[in-house]
Amino acid sequence: MKIDKFKVEEWFNKYESKAKYDLADTCVESVSVNELLELTNAKVDEIFNKKLNYGDIHGSLRLKNAICSLYEKQTVDNITITHGAIGANQLVMLSLIERGDKIVSIIPTYQQHYSIPKSIGAEVKTLFLKEKNNWLPDIDELKNIVSNDTKIICMNNPNNPTGSVIPEEMLIKITEIARASNAYILCDEVYRGLEHNGRISKSIADIYEKGISTGSVSKVFSLAGLRLGWISAPIQVIKEVNHQREYNTISVGILDDYFASLAIENKEIIIERNLQKILEGKQVLKNWLVKEQHCHCIIPNGGTTAFVGYDMNTQSAELCKKLQKDTGVMILPGETMELDRYLRIGYGNNPDKLKKALNIFSQWIVNNYYNS
Ligand SMILES: Cc1ncc(COP(=O)(O)O)c(C=O)c1O
Repeated sequence: MKIDKFKVEEWFNKYESKAKYDLADTCVESVSVNELLELTNAKVDEIFNKKLNYGDIHGSLRLKNAICSLYEKQTVDNITITHGAIGANQLVMLSLIERGDKIVSIIPTYQQHYSIPKSIGAEVKTLFLKEKNNWLPDIDELKNIVSNDTKIICMNNPNNPTGSVIPEEMLIKITEIARASNAYILCDEVYRGLEHNGRISKSIADIYEKGISTGSVSKVFSLAGLRLGWISAPIQVIKEVNHQREYNTISVGILDDYFASLAIENKEIIIERNLQKILEGKQVLKNWLVKEQHCHCIIPNGGTTAFVGYDMNTQSAELCKKLQKDTGVMILPGETMELDRYLRIGYGNNPDKLKKALNIFSQWIVNNYYNS
């Protein structure tokens, strides 16, 4: 199967290890094993006595029950466990999409949501979010682009890179458009739980009978190293996914399953830790934006990233390459997410480093573009 280059991941592969200040990262500062055990009051013996077999093939009942607690209406039969949200998205697409299918993808988003369908031979129509709409989908535009034979609408809420969170009324309107075409909605909800006002948005799986939600412990629980995600979907879809899954997953690993269960069972504590870090970082970003006249941004309501526009007359990839070479500050160019003249800035990590890096960036802008 030929597939387009995954631009964001390739940018990371090339630049991340050399970065002095990594503002491209989408994770909140990761949780260590020790911190997880402390936060969750876990019993260390329980871990050391675990036999390292495959474990429950589709995920333990304990883990699935914990995941159900993140939803309103899902049961353990609606869930299967995957290798991260990346594995979840891929499995859904490989299970449901065939050559010639019509797919609508709302972008910017994680590239899987348009490049995998394209690689299968589906016809992919894209709907661009716009800054003037606060990075929320234009419902009339969506109505026009979705046709009777649209099979899946792919979206991501809260959105990476813009940090927009779709309000419930708008989500309902999107489900009405999908229902009229009998289309699935695949909603990548990997940042659901990191809404900055603390009110977790509705999951597509809870409000739409053909809603498929993908999630993971990478962002909301700061446990990207576990490589553990899930799909929550109608039972028929889960059956098809599990059929496909036999060929690439077996199980996710017994320790990943165990640590993820611990984290999700203690979701309030970990989400509070993460929201605190995010809000601190967001304040640093906001203070910087007030001073930095050459950059502008719709302040994000969710997730860990902001999509920052700029005045300088340079393409984003060129700008980011030179910035990192000159200063060690790594920012992700919007071009890797199909929108040039924007930069994705992650603000969920160390706020002191963030502040320092943003100041270095500002000085670099002056030196390179506005010093006569
Ligand atoms: C929107 C989105 N979906 C999926 C993923 C993959 O997440 P995971 O680490 O759970 O595989 C990412 C990672 O950055 C993401 O931003």
